[in-house]
Amino acid sequence: MGELQSSERRSALRVVGGILLSALGLAWAIPAALFATSPVRRRRGSTSDAKQPGSEEDRATSVPIASLSEVPDLDQGGEPLRAAVVASGLRDAWNRLDQTKLGSVFVGKRAGALTALSATCPHAGCGIDYDGSRRQFVCPCHNSAFSIDGQRISGPAPRDMDRLDVSEKGGTVFCQFQRFRLALKNKVPV
Ligand code: FES
Repeated sequence: MGELQSSERRSALRVVGGILLSALGLAWAIPAALFATSPVRRRRGSTSDAKQPGSEEDRATSVPIASLSEVPDLDQGGEPLRAAVVASGLRDAWNRLDQTKLGSVFVGKRAGALTALSATCPHAGCGIDYDGSRRQFVCPCHNSAFSIDGQRISGPAPRDMDRLDVSEKGGTVFCQFQRFRLALKNKVPV
């Protein structure tokens, strides 16, 4: 009789222990799963303007790059203004990033209209410079040269400099920043 009772007690303890271990496992697993999937859920449910770097949304990011008054008139002999494209409020998986440099552009006015050219060389991605003495853009890596309007003149670059959409609002110039695949004849967004 005593033997039977202690065997039943052991079984009952095993069941209770199993339940407690399962509960502990769940208590750990649920927050861990929520944490691991939070960026995905945030992306699906987000109503904020913040964009994900490298994602579909980030493919064209509108960023203020200059004030209208500082944009040179290229027809009047002005030199293209090199402007950094810095976005704020982007997110990577878990963090909101205050300031993220996306790239650089050359901005100017041509026939009264704003123009913006990506400073990333379409050959292999080096930074393009402006050579005032030649009034041309030049890439220091493999000597590609481009006209002041971004047309390819010489060198291994397979296409013209990448033109970007640009607009003005309230005296501020905004660039619709985008990256394009390198070493292709056509502009293909990344
Ligand atoms: S990276 Fe510009 S010419 Fe090669």
